[in-house]
Amino acid sequence: MSALPSIVPADSQGPEGEFSFGPADFERVRKLIHQRAGISLHAGKQAMVYSRLSRRLRELGHGSFGQYLQALEGASGAAANAEWQEFVNCLTTNLTSFFREDHHFGLLANELTARRGQNLRIWCNAASTGEEPYSLAMTVVEALGANASVTIFCSDIDTKVLATAEQGIYAADARGLSPERLRQHFLRGTASNAGFIRIKPELQRLVEFHTFNLMNDRWSLGEPFDIVFCRNVMIYFDAPTQRRVLERMHRAMKPRALLFAGHSENFSDSRDIFRLRGKTVYERV
Ligand SMILES: C[S@@+](CC[C@H](N)C(=O)[O-])C[C@H]1O[C@@H](n2cnc3c(N)ncnc32)[C@H](O)[C@@H]1O
Repeated sequence: MSALPSIVPADSQGPEGEFSFGPADFERVRKLIHQRAGISLHAGKQAMVYSRLSRRLRELGHGSFGQYLQALEGASGAAANAEWQEFVNCLTTNLTSFFREDHHFGLLANELTARRGQNLRIWCNAASTGEEPYSLAMTVVEALGANASVTIFCSDIDTKVLATAEQGIYAADARGLSPERLRQHFLRGTASNAGFIRIKPELQRLVEFHTFNLMNDRWSLGEPFDIVFCRNVMIYFDAPTQRRVLERMHRAMKPRALLFAGHSENFSDSRDIFRLRGKTVYERV
């Protein structure tokens, strides 16, 4: 048992009781998620970690964090892989929306028009629940038409959000969609599906979803990409990890390919491989 005081956030007490979650448990989780996903959790995330993982402890019937983490680290084979995936899924933050940071999509439309007639490969590598990849697909269809020769390779480390993305079903009042886009690109649910919208097949044809961890040592992603959307994921990585990912991304991109970053991400320390082309948009050097 930890000699340090335990912390149980007041808002995290479930009906089945509560678990002790001391600094040593938090430290252990912090180390494991950094090793697995590159995610750096600062001290302020302790309550979030408790709330997300205690649900998993209850589901599995563990009596303490120590017991759960010991089982996780001690397991082997397929069951271990499955539980590591659950652990990662619990700890990712998946906030996203359609046409988030919408200045990127105007720039993308211009870029697509300039490259009309080429077979283009786009990589959306923190695809989350799909709003970002489908925003890319809508931009492609609007700029180049429904028969565009474009592949949008979408990936994320989190298998749960990817399952949602693959379905392409959203609440009808989802943020970021204009009435015109709702009409042009979505089917409206009726009867028991009222209140939901579904991405049209012509957009789904453009996207493919894959589980991919940016921490992987080996990246075999096929032909190099013309455009990469890597938005609001690098903020979770420390500087050396960001650099490692940028170097690998550089190798996975064509010369002069574009890299779109999130609003608070800045890769100016890596200007030897990516030069700034616009607001949070970089060109591969
Ligand atoms: C905040 S969301 C950003 C979603 C979208 N790109 C956007 O900007 O709206 C961050 C996503 O990065 C994913 N992620 C975190 N660590 C990752 C890793 N090591 N490899 C791949 N994806 C990761 C998470 O699962 C999550 O879906």
